[in-house]
Amino acid sequence: MEKEIIALQLAHILGEEFPPEDLQQKLEYPKHSQHGDISFPCFFLAGHFRRNPKEIAEELSSQLTHPIFTKTEAVHGYVNIFLDQPFMTNHVLNRVLQEGYGSHSFGEGERVVLDLSAPNIAKPFSMGHLRSTIIGNSLALLAEKCGYTSVKINYIGDYGTQFGHLLAAYKKWGDEETIQKAPLKELSNIYVRFHEESKHDPSLIEEGREWFKRLEKGGTEAVTLWKWFRELSLLKFDEIYEQLGISFDMTRGEAYYSDKMEETISLLEEKGMVEKSDGALVVRLDEYDLPPCLIVKSNGTTTYATRDLTAAIDRYRTYGFSKSLYVVGNEQTLHFEQIKKVLEKAGFPWASSMQHISFGMMLQNGKKMSTRKGRTILLEDVLQEAGERAGGNNRIGTGAVIFHDLKHHRLNDVEFSLDDMLTFEGTTGPYIQYTYARAISLLDKAEFSLNTELDDSSAWEVVKQLHAFPEEIERAFLQSDPSIIARYVLRLAKYFNQYYAHTKILQADQLDKRLTLVFSVTKVLEEGLHLLGMETVEKM
Ligand code: ARG
Repeated sequence: MEKEIIALQLAHILGEEFPPEDLQQKLEYPKHSQHGDISFPCFFLAGHFRRNPKEIAEELSSQLTHPIFTKTEAVHGYVNIFLDQPFMTNHVLNRVLQEGYGSHSFGEGERVVLDLSAPNIAKPFSMGHLRSTIIGNSLALLAEKCGYTSVKINYIGDYGTQFGHLLAAYKKWGDEETIQKAPLKELSNIYVRFHEESKHDPSLIEEGREWFKRLEKGGTEAVTLWKWFRELSLLKFDEIYEQLGISFDMTRGEAYYSDKMEETISLLEEKGMVEKSDGALVVRLDEYDLPPCLIVKSNGTTTYATRDLTAAIDRYRTYGFSKSLYVVGNEQTLHFEQIKKVLEKAGFPWASSMQHISFGMMLQNGKKMSTRKGRTILLEDVLQEAGERAGGNNRIGTGAVIFHDLKHHRLNDVEFSLDDMLTFEGTTGPYIQYTYARAISLLDKAEFSLNTELDDSSAWEVVKQLHAFPEEIERAFLQSDPSIIARYVLRLAKYFNQYYAHTKILQADQLDKRLTLVFSVTKVLEEGLHLLGMETVEKM
C-alpha cells in the first residue's frame, strides 16, 4: 500500500518518463530505523535531470506529502520516509488476520512442474537426494502460494546399464533373506563389490552387459528381479518421505520411458539433428559451445539424456507447464544445459521454460559425503537421531534437518552437523519452533478478543516484519530460493523475542491489542515454516 502511494507521488512529480511501477521497484527498506521505514535513492536520476542526487532528494522530500507519512527527510541522496506507526500497525494486523495472508494470484491458471528427489533404486537415499527433496518441496509450496498449481514428480533412477551390473552381482553373491532385511544396504554392498572385482576381472562387465540386454528385452528372470529390487527400494524411500512429511503427485521413473525413446530418436532424426560419431549417435551443440549430447551409445544402449528428453516431452504433453523445474545437484549442470538446448534446437518453444535448480553438496568435515567411499550417514539414522536428540519429538528433529538445509542459499555447500542443527540458540529450526511455542503458551494464558489498534512503538520492528511477508514470498518464488523464507522467519522470531523480552505483555496495558500482535506473529511463523515444509509444535 504505502509503496504504491509513494511511487505514485514520485511519478507525479518526476514526470512521464518515470512510470510508478519502475519507481516502486527502486524503493528500499533501510537497514537502520533512524533512516526511516522506506527510502528512495536518487542517484539514478542525476543524469536525466543534470543535477546532483543530494539536491534531487531534497526537492522530492519537500514535495512528498500524505497523511500516512509522519516525516520525510533528505539524507545523502536518499529520501527517507517515516510512516504513521499506529495507522500502519492497524492496517498490517488486519491483513495478517485475513485468510491466506501472503498469497499471490500471479500464478493463477498456470502449472509449475517440479522434478525433485529422484533417488536411485538399490542404493541408499543420499544427502543429495535429501537436499533435492527438501528444496523441491519448498519450491512447490511457494508456487502454490503464488497461485500456481504445482506438480511434484519423483523421477526414480530405475534404469540404465548399472542395473545389468546389479543383476549380475546378485546372481553371484546375492542372498534373498539378507536383502529382504536391509535392501538398500545389501544391494549397494553387492553393487560396490561388483565394481571392485570388475577392476581385476573384466569378464564381469561383460556379464553385466548381458544381464542388461536381458532386462531390455524383457527376459522373465531379469525383469522379475528388477521389479523386486524396485519394490523393496520404493518401500524404503516411502519411509523417508513419510518422516519428512512429503508426498508426490507422480512417481514415474526412468524405466517408464524405456519403450518411448524410439519416438524421441526418430523425431530428432527427422529434424536432421542426429549425427553418427564413432558408432554412437549424438546431437551436436557446437553453436552453444557445448559438447555433443549422446543419444545412443556405440553399443546400442540409450542414455540418461535420451530418457530425460523423452520425459520432458511427455511432461509437456501431460501438463502443459509454464515452468518446469529440475531440482538436481550442481554436478549435473552440463546435462541439463544439453537437454534444454537439444529441445530448443528441435523447435519446442516450451524448452525455454525448463530450468535447472541446482544446489551445492552436503559436506562432512569439509568433505563430500560419498556412498562409494563409505563416507555416508544413512538418512534414516539421521532423522532418527535428530528426533531422539530433540527429546523424542520427531517433528522438531525432522524440522531441524529441513531448516538447516534451507537456511543456506541452495548453491552453497552445507556442512552437515547434527549439533548445529539442534541447538536452541542461534539460527536453527528448534529456535523458531521454541519461539512459536512460547508465543502460543502466552496466548493460552489470557482471554483476549482481537483488536488491531495497537499503539506501541516498541512493536514497530515486529509489525514491519509481518508486513514484509508477502513480498518475501514473491521474491523466494521468483528466485527459486527458499532460504529467503528461512532467513525471514529468523528475523521475525528475533524481533518478536526482543519485543517479548522488553515488554511484559501480560502485565502491560493494551492487553487485547498486544495479544493480537502475538497471535499475528504465530500465524506468520506457522505459515513461514509451512512454506519450508515444516510443521510447528505447540508445546516444547
Ligand atoms: N536419479 C538421478 C541421480 O540420482 C537424478 C535424476 C534427476 N532428474 C532428472 N530428470 N534427471 O543422479
